[in-house]
Amino acid sequence: MSYSFKENRYDKMQYRRTGKSGLLLPAVSLGLWHNFGDIDNQQRAREILRLAFDEGITHFDLANNYGPPGGSAEENFGRIFKQDFSDHRDELIISSKAGWGMWPGPYGDHGSKKYLVASLDQSLKRMGLEYVDIFYHHRPDPDTPLEETMRALDLIVRQGKALYVGISSYSATESKAAIDLLRSMGTPCLIHQPKYSMFERWVENGLLDVLKNEGVGCICFSPLAQGLLSNKYLKGIPEDSRALSHRGNGAMDETAVTPDKINKAVQLNEIAKKRGQNLAQLALAWVLRHEIVTSVLIGVSKPEQLTDSIKCLDNLSFADSELKEIDKILQG
Ligand SMILES: NC(=O)c1ccc[n+]([C@@H]2O[C@H](COP(=O)([O-])OP(=O)(O)OC[C@H]3O[C@@H](n4cnc5c(N)ncnc54)[C@H](OP(=O)(O)O)[C@@H]3O)[C@@H](O)[C@H]2O)c1
Repeated sequence: MSYSFKENRYDKMQYRRTGKSGLLLPAVSLGLWHNFGDIDNQQRAREILRLAFDEGITHFDLANNYGPPGGSAEENFGRIFKQDFSDHRDELIISSKAGWGMWPGPYGDHGSKKYLVASLDQSLKRMGLEYVDIFYHHRPDPDTPLEETMRALDLIVRQGKALYVGISSYSATESKAAIDLLRSMGTPCLIHQPKYSMFERWVENGLLDVLKNEGVGCICFSPLAQGLLSNKYLKGIPEDSRALSHRGNGAMDETAVTPDKINKAVQLNEIAKKRGQNLAQLALAWVLRHEIVTSVLIGVSKPEQLTDSIKCLDNLSFADSELKEIDKILQG
């Protein structure tokens, strides 16, 4: 028997349409990049997943290389899924990805058909699933013909191993080409997963327009800039920061916490307070202010962070004057 989740779990969460598809995603989704590996507290990981679903978060995002070690987040998720969620598979959107280095040799990285197909098979085994809901190519690969990578995504859908496919971190131009190719194969590109936060605004220079014009969804990762856009860093780096845990795998290190960023966070925090929010809630609401954004993809190291962050949904609208003030701080 799986865990007894709250009956009213769908009452508060907002669900947004993913581009022009039939799929709704929660405005806040949970990523398992960190805090679900073998080095992490498994009881806490389980509590976070239970809490997320109880709060209406129906989307969990994984990748082949999440851990550490790579692969362990999928294994740990698979175990918890079996214990707590097995009666709820049809209520969940589970994603995985391949595109970064996963195993040695020429076939465990980048964007070949060989890598993507083999990697998804491994991910499904690790998670104990028959299919994922969304499978992504994790990053563009300039050396593999785009057509080969897109054909691999198309094949994976036709094989029933993924219901939908997406791309991550592709530029505006690369995205347009990938979207066109997938469409020509009869498998639409469901969604793009870019990095987007107040501290990382590259998507505003073309990508969001492409996604809007093409009817493709957008789920933004690291919307809190890995925690820098929260109360955690207002007085410097706290003891329990991921910046001190030497996790590797793209996690920020101490050098990312610059005085300039802290100074900006302190000023943004004042705006948050005036809106009745804290800085994390402001930062998430700011990303969700775009209609084209389907979901913010957050990470949490403790259940309390999740409870805190989803309160962003209580105030998602911004006055022009607030947006201007925020821009001024960010450009300062
Ligand atoms: N496609 C890609 O290439 C890619 C790349 C990176 C991430 N992602 C996806 O995006 C997900 C989220 O990325 P992320 O973890 O960088 O997101 P994030 O939401 O920007 O950062 C999460 C971290 O911020 C801190 N935090 C979260 N909520 C907080 C709160 N309310 N108050 C104070 N601090 C808070 C915690 O840091 P501490 O851990 O220090 O407590 C937490 O681990 C990943 O799990 C993954 O699914 C995708």
